Amino acid sequence: MSAEEPVAVEFANFGELERVAMVCTRCDLAEGRTQVVFGSGDPAADLMFVGEGPGAREDEQGLPFVGPSGNLLTELIHGIGLERSACYIANVVKCRPPGNRDPLPGEITACRPYLEAQLEFIRPRVVMTLGNFAMKLLLDTKEGITKMRGKQYPFRDDAVLIPSFHPAAALRGGGGVLADMRADFVRARRVLHEPSI
Ligand code: URA
Repeated sequence: MSAEEPVAVEFANFGELERVAMVCTRCDLAEGRTQVVFGSGDPAADLMFVGEGPGAREDEQGLPFVGPSGNLLTELIHGIGLERSACYIANVVKCRPPGNRDPLPGEITACRPYLEAQLEFIRPRVVMTLGNFAMKLLLDTKEGITKMRGKQYPFRDDAVLIPSFHPAAALRGGGGVLADMRADFVRARRVLHEPSI
């Protein structure tokens, strides 16, 4: 596959998707990575988180959200009575941007088929985006997270998207951001408990 190919790419099943992603060279991030951070958790999860991209710890371990932001994410998941392993956790880009810089538009486009396919196979009832990058991509908006959060948005056929802050923002910004994130997680729990249509 090249980065110019259209967004819709067919994969026979989740295993094939992961195998293809793990050896991806669609963008320059492939050169600097230790390994691809495809995603982790239950591919049949009702709740899926989408972050920005792997940091140093994630790149080392091959798993998303295993550093300080990950510890906070785990705490927030536990706070609504769930285990991390019952959710699915992925990122907009699957390889670490050097020096933890923001992912570039071309990198996001190149990686998008993997995220789209993850969403397609997992079909979560609730997608929670963590930070601006995932929210802007999946809601196709230029608005910032501060304006968009605090609400839920219909997503694809029958899902709901809840935008929240990136856990790193709560680690930097303290109590207010964290309180808002907790409220977003409670919203997610409420939606998950609603009867599905
Ligand atoms: N930040 C992210 O956006 N994703 C990770 O996996 C880790 C930190």
